[in-house]
Amino acid sequence: YVVGIDLGTSSVKTLLVSQGGEIKGEATAAYPLIHERPGYSEQDPEEWVKGTITCLKELMKSSGVAAEDIEGISFSGQMHGLVLLDDRNEVLCHAILWNDTRTTKQCRAIEAKLGDKLLDITRNAALEGFTLPKILWVQENEPELFAKAARFVLPKDYLRYRMTGNVHMELSDAAGTLMLNVPEAKWSEEILEAFGLSSNFAPPLVGSTEETGTLLPEFAELTGLSTSTKVFGGGADNACGAVGAGIVRQGDALCSIGTSGVILSYEEDKNKDFAGKVHFFNHSHPGAFYAMGVTLAAGYSMSWFKDSLAPELSFDELLKPVADIAPGAEGLLFTPYLVGERTPHADSVIRGSFIGLSGTHRREHLARAVMEGITFSLAESLELFRQAGINVERIISIGGGAKNPVWLQMQADIFGTPVVALNNEQGPAMGAAMMAAVGSGWFDSLKDCADQFIGYRATYEPNAANVDKYARLFKLYQQVYAATRSLNE
Ligand code: XUL
Repeated sequence: YVVGIDLGTSSVKTLLVSQGGEIKGEATAAYPLIHERPGYSEQDPEEWVKGTITCLKELMKSSGVAAEDIEGISFSGQMHGLVLLDDRNEVLCHAILWNDTRTTKQCRAIEAKLGDKLLDITRNAALEGFTLPKILWVQENEPELFAKAARFVLPKDYLRYRMTGNVHMELSDAAGTLMLNVPEAKWSEEILEAFGLSSNFAPPLVGSTEETGTLLPEFAELTGLSTSTKVFGGGADNACGAVGAGIVRQGDALCSIGTSGVILSYEEDKNKDFAGKVHFFNHSHPGAFYAMGVTLAAGYSMSWFKDSLAPELSFDELLKPVADIAPGAEGLLFTPYLVGERTPHADSVIRGSFIGLSGTHRREHLARAVMEGITFSLAESLELFRQAGINVERIISIGGGAKNPVWLQMQADIFGTPVVALNNEQGPAMGAAMMAAVGSGWFDSLKDCADQFIGYRATYEPNAANVDKYARLFKLYQQVYAATRSLNE
């Protein structure tokens, strides 16, 4: 058996998986977010450790599996979070998370200092959520605390340290720090030096399926696990989500509609140029990368709509009559910028819209327009991938967007690509378990593991007439952003 641990933003999920890829047990534990001021988002790393111990204990008890039969453990982690450690690896302050937005000034300072080198080296734009701006914020605002900082780690790398006693940073997650040379897959000495950080500040890098040690006796005792269990690097949650959906080959892309939405494409060419408009990170498969665009209010737009206009209905009830409305929602267009937008606009000020309302529109027209608007927004990221020369052959759809056949067909028609739904969707925890499976020697590669572990239940082919109709509407959709930008200034 192997265990995948998904260290998320609101909870940790553990998954026990057999050598045949079957799920043998699952446990989750929630922990709080700390918002001390507007824009701040923090967590106490001790909560991650406590939550994981609770889950693993429960998993061991409920599954009845013998501790010695668990060969490996690996991780999926919320990205970008800053955990500062002193020279004895004690945590110095709360972790500052990916969704903390206090660092706009530091982002501008990074751009000013690095100029074109920022994109050349890191392949990403400076966003508030990334790790380097957070380090500079602490340097500037908490100099006494920062003077004690010997190194930093990311959330799941901290958890792994507590389980093994060894400090490492895993590559796919390090890609989101703005300190990694992404194409070369190594720390950028140039960036570390530019901000006065010593090379020891960034811990040694490991790969997703690489062994980092075995469980410490005290951790084994607390959880009922064995000290013989090997612990592997793991991956960033998006890399693990991709692996767990079988995105391990050129031509494959992922569409994940959760609260936010992600379009992600597997890429082997390290020189693909997206001009920083999408994220470009190292993937968990050695030598591979992925490009990623984010729609901030994807599922959130849908739940906003339901809560505001149909609180008495379930999602199924709300979406059922949508099947009878033709593509285009009879002239109604929605933009999902309820909380601003990340890709392609990187704009926190823009807000959404319904355009083309008619006296004949009913609630189901609005619901259809919301689904279409969310999908158009994700299609804008896909368009950036295609402009950079990526040939997307199929899209695996997961999350809320994969639960509804009308939405799956809509994705195929708007993306102009076959859309595939998974058999047994388990999310990033499955990707993490697959990394432990490969690390434990069950398979030669994540590709081989995906062939064994991942199954598909349905493929939705694009309908030519709908593709044409949506292509026309997409052009209109793309004009709405600029036309409505000044509404909220
Ligand atoms: C990626 C990002 C989020 C977090 C969520 O850039 O900010 O996907 O990883 O956990």
